[in-house]
Amino acid sequence: MKTGLRLQTINAMIKDNYAHIWDCCCDHGLLGMTILKRQLADTVHFVDIVDTITEQVHQHLYKHFSDQAFANKWQVHCTDVAKLPIDRFIADNQQHSHLIIIAGVGGDLLIEFVQQIVTANPTLKLEFILCPVHHNYKVRQALIELNFNLIDEIITCENKRFYEVIHVIRNSTNNEPIANVGSKMWDLSDPLHQKYLTIRLNHYQRIQNNPNENVSEIIQAYQALKA
Ligand SMILES: C[S@@+](CC[C@H](N)C(=O)[O-])C[C@H]1O[C@@H](n2cnc3c(N)ncnc32)[C@H](O)[C@@H]1O
Repeated sequence: MKTGLRLQTINAMIKDNYAHIWDCCCDHGLLGMTILKRQLADTVHFVDIVDTITEQVHQHLYKHFSDQAFANKWQVHCTDVAKLPIDRFIADNQQHSHLIIIAGVGGDLLIEFVQQIVTANPTLKLEFILCPVHHNYKVRQALIELNFNLIDEIITCENKRFYEVIHVIRNSTNNEPIANVGSKMWDLSDPLHQKYLTIRLNHYQRIQNNPNENVSEIIQAYQALKA
């Protein structure tokens, strides 16, 4: 299986080394394996809730990543991402650096995961790279409410579908705010970004046609990007 542009974008966004990188909802494990090859973490964790999936990932890792360079560099966890066992990897109260990647799931589920992980580890300096399949506005609102700050964000397009990749941090000295419609990811001289903005606006204008909905603030925020 080949790594598509969406996963390549997430991979390229990782610029630092970490003690632990968590490929959550890993499915095929392609992203984590790419990160493992780049040797970006002391340990790359592959997490999925389906045991047949984690078993396959384990077999693949055992076959292809068992030599000296990769020994003890990966772990596979069959568990719910909402219950990520981060606390097992914090020795002597030291703040080991954790990067948690959640991609390829819906926005509501992704928010639940982030909320639960933050609630279980309220004081840890945690970084997340998030790429929901939809509900980006709602995800951003939740991140703002959870006191995250922005590290980076990118728009990417795969199979005619747009994705936002959002790299955020909590409990750090980074004060860059997250914008609910995105900020530095936009390059409106790029026709693809113009197209994505039109898609976002059309989506919310359709919702606004329903008299029971009021998304005028969201529409205004997206329209302000054009100014
Ligand atoms: C579409 S795949 C995403 C694969 C990969 N992250 C990507 O972006 O291409 C979604 C995966 O999430 C897993 N998943 C769903 N709910 C989960 C949960 N609560 N905890 C862990 N994994 C979960 C599913 O088993 C499935 O393998």
